[in-house]
This record gives sequence, structure tokens and C-alpha cells, in this order.
Amino acid sequence: MNRNIGKLIQMNDSAFYVFDIKELKNRIAYLKSKLPDVSLCYAVKANPMITGEIMDDLPRFEICSPGEARICQRLGVDTEKMVISGVYKTPAFIEETAADPDFKGIFTVESMRQYDLLCALSEKYGRTLQVLLRLTNGSQFGINASDIEEIIAKRENHPGIVLKGIQFFSGTQKTSLKKFARELSHLDQFLIHLKETLGYEAEELEYGTGFPVSYFKDEELDEDALLDGFTGILREMISHPKITLELGRSIAASCGRYYTHVVDMKQNKGQNYLLTDGGMHHIVYFGQHMAMKHPFLSAVGKETPENGTSWTICGSLCSMNDIIVKQAVLPDIEVGDVICFEKTGAYCMTEGIALFLTRDLPALYIQREDESVYCIRSTFETEELNMPEYERI
Ligand SMILES: Cc1ncc(COP(=O)(O)O)c(C=O)c1O
Repeated sequence: MNRNIGKLIQMNDSAFYVFDIKELKNRIAYLKSKLPDVSLCYAVKANPMITGEIMDDLPRFEICSPGEARICQRLGVDTEKMVISGVYKTPAFIEETAADPDFKGIFTVESMRQYDLLCALSEKYGRTLQVLLRLTNGSQFGINASDIEEIIAKRENHPGIVLKGIQFFSGTQKTSLKKFARELSHLDQFLIHLKETLGYEAEELEYGTGFPVSYFKDEELDEDALLDGFTGILREMISHPKITLELGRSIAASCGRYYTHVVDMKQNKGQNYLLTDGGMHHIVYFGQHMAMKHPFLSAVGKETPENGTSWTICGSLCSMNDIIVKQAVLPDIEVGDVICFEKTGAYCMTEGIALFLTRDLPALYIQREDESVYCIRSTFETEELNMPEYERI
């Protein structure tokens, strides 16, 4: 066991996360080496907490809410690296950002209303604003191809708007090279069409690939083959925009580990239950199906035998849904042991139902490359958020 983890376990009497920055940076280096023709953009939503650690390692950060923007500002992310994205950007937030002479980033356009507002603000403040037009995949996100064509056709009416190119994202955990080939061919055809019909050459294509993470033991992923295949598909494109890949989980998942203590054990009607001080308000695995799938986990400091006892690992919420995994094989376990869940660096920590039952949120730590450890959030008591504050109006 890493001696820092031993120390953190001693220091914490409840659940916590550790984000390993060496692992994170190795992961970014791996992705850069396997994807030599593109630049990478980190989707901050995957884990805002690690953004400051990688802000010098990546050229772009996708920000999807005013809160994420404030975090990035406070961390000192260079505005040139910011893409202000998100289906709903509050008009006040768009105006504040667009008016700021120090803001050198890009806005995505998710509706004609957003586009009109950006045009008006560029005139009002005499500012040049850079935008990416988000092409919809048929969901509530982005705009139709015909809307993009209309914007481009009338681009001369808005000299303050720089149409940098197209953004596209169609979903996460995508494993099929055929799907990538289809999407990229579709985008390529669209870019060619824009050039041929409107004389518009997109400088950039920002593409959220939704690269997968294998969270569960029975999910095999030949990532080298997937990324090599992806690069091959990119090289077949006829148009040549600068390509940026927006990645969240693929960058962040592997750096995270969640540690939760065994606080009780029982056998109810023949089923072994192991109760922890964590739960679904702390940890969510994408694709976890009724707790049936088996994430990578271990009991800290104990070897898991092939034929150990199976346990249903539960959290501490008063909800029958609060099961992290069913029938997990573990070594001999006792109250006080700590279970470590791996690959929890992306979304796991933020997608839980944090305020249900007014329980504490876990402490968060990072371990840097030199093995120094920092607490980046202490255990967070949530009662202030569920406690009424009476203010007569
Ligand atoms: C527009 C956009 N880009 C990128 C991402 C990141 O996706 P992933 O974590 O699958 O890489 C998301 C996730 O929702 C997204 O909405």
C-alpha cells in the first residue's frame, strides 16, 4: 500500500477520494502520443477538482456553466484556453464574458438565440468574439445544419463574430470505430459542403469523441487499437480543419480512487451485506446496472482470493437503491477495513445525489508527482444546504 494512502486512512474516519496527478499526467501523455494529429480539450465537467493540476498540460478547457467558469477563473486558467459551452448559458453570463476585454476564449453557439445575443454583444461592446457552431446530433444540443448554413451565409453582416468552425458531440462511452467513421465522414461531408456552397472553410472542428473507459471487470477494451483506428479514420478526412478532441472521462477516470470504510456487516436472509460509510451520494459509475456490474475494487492491504466470500456492498443512505455493487468477491473482511474503488476520477464524485439524506460529502485529496499530498476539500457537511433559512421578503 502506498504510504500516503495509509496515512490518509488513519486521518479519515469517513470516505474520501484521492486523485493521483502522476497517473493523470501519464494518461494525458498517453493520449497525446496515441492521437498525434489532434489537440486535446479537457471537459471540466468530468472533474473540476483536477483542472488546476493540468491547466498547463492542455491547450483547451471546455466550460459548461457559470460555476465551472468561475472555478477556471479562480484557478487561473488562461482565457485563451477557454471554450464557453453548454446548452444554456445565462444571458448575464454571456454578456459579462463577452464584455470582458481580457476574455480571449471561444463561445459555442447552441441556439439561434445565443447567436443573436453574441452578435448584439459584439456590436454593443465593440468586441471581436470567436465562436464554434454546435451541430446537433438530433438531441436538444446544438443547432441544425440548415441554421449553421444560414449563419455562415449571412456572416458578413456580423464582422465582429469570427466563425472558427464546428463543434459536435453525440454521446459518451463510444467504443465502435464504425460509429466514429460514420460521424467523422458526416462531419467531413458537411465541412466540404460549406466550402463548396458558401465558400466557408472551417478553421476548426471540435469533436467530443466520448472515448470509453472500461469501468467493469468483464469489459475488455483494446484502447491502443481503438485510438490507432481512430487516427486512421481522421487521416481519411478530405477537409483539413484543425481538430480538437473534447475529452472528459477518458482523461480523468483513471486518476481517481474512492476509499470507504466498512462500518457494519450482516447476513440478511442468506445474503451477505457489507455496509460502508459511503454510498451513492458519493460515487456513481456510468453504466452500472442495478449494481450488477463489478467495478475494479479491492480491500486495502488485503489480497483478494479467487474464491472469497461474495458481499453486496451498500452505502449508508436510507434507500434500498444505495447499493454500490452486488456479489463482490472480497478477502476476509472486518469492520474497519477500507474498500478502494478504482477509476473514479471522472463524474463519479459529482454525479451522485449529493443532498439526499443530508449526509457528509467525502474529503478530496490529490497526490502530486513528487508524492506530496494536498487536501483539496475537507469532508463537507451538507446540512446548511438542506436547512431552511427564513428571510422574509
Ligand atoms: C459537449 C461535450 N463535450 C465533451 C464531453 C465529455 O464527454 P466524455 O466524458 O465522454 O469524454 C461532454 C460530456 O457530456 C459534452 O457534453
